[in-house]
Amino acid sequence: MIELTTTQELKAWVRAMHARDRRIGLVPTMGALHEGHLSLVDAARSGSDVVVMSIFVNPAQFGPNEDLARYPRDLVRDRALASSRGVDVIFVPPVEAMYPDGAEMRVVPGKVATRWEGEFRPGHFAGVLTIVAKLFHLSEPECAWFGQKDFQQAALIRQMVRDLDFPLEVEVVPTVREAGGLALSSRNAFLSAADREQALGLSRALAAAAAAFGSGTRDAAALERLMRGGLAVHPGVKVEYIAVADPDTLEPVQHADERTVVLIAARVGSTRLIDNVILGKGL
Ligand code: PAF
Repeated sequence: MIELTTTQELKAWVRAMHARDRRIGLVPTMGALHEGHLSLVDAARSGSDVVVMSIFVNPAQFGPNEDLARYPRDLVRDRALASSRGVDVIFVPPVEAMYPDGAEMRVVPGKVATRWEGEFRPGHFAGVLTIVAKLFHLSEPECAWFGQKDFQQAALIRQMVRDLDFPLEVEVVPTVREAGGLALSSRNAFLSAADREQALGLSRALAAAAAAFGSGTRDAAALERLMRGGLAVHPGVKVEYIAVADPDTLEPVQHADERTVVLIAARVGSTRLIDNVILGKGL
């Protein structure tokens, strides 16, 4: 595995790969790798000839009161995991390489970014889309891989690729979960044992909604009520939103169908967690 830190090095490597007709797969991450990231690598390896993983904690997607400073970082462990899973290049730029002095342009997302995460994290998606657009330009992948856990992010990235004519495919890989159902997230590192027990409420509520859908419940309000009822036994879960929404527009729906997504965001202790389920697929 090669480690690159400058945009020039990455561009030169990309040119060399494309000169040899190699299909490049990109897995963008913020590091603190877990099995969820590594499942993206597995998918990228099966769909491309060479895999680039970026590891960059992107300051532009954190609000002023968010957890940028304490976001988990462990490059030594990340290197070992990425290499053991067959990543060809890790791109680990310093902040100045991605945001040199005077760089003030941002991708401006549309309506899909205004709801749910966008409401609780103003500016977050402009920061995400800006860094993802830069990574697309720098690594010129034929395909890029993202996790379903960040459902709204993936929907926005697909929309950006379509609206701004990026010449690549976007693939979304199902969320990887712990045995109890908790969605893997780098932020799980902040959960105490007691928090972890409470955090199971999110996936349990989503599983209950999917089960109710499976038994014929189509009314979105009834699905949300069911979830909030189940969460009553998890008093440590402070729900920010539960959304029963269209998977492309993220607009709330009244009647759910197979494609409908149910999204949840909540605070558990000092940690903010998100999760989702596509009703027709289940967890
Ligand atoms: O999902 C993430 O880890 C980040 O939002 C991403 C896509 C790597 C952009 O910084």
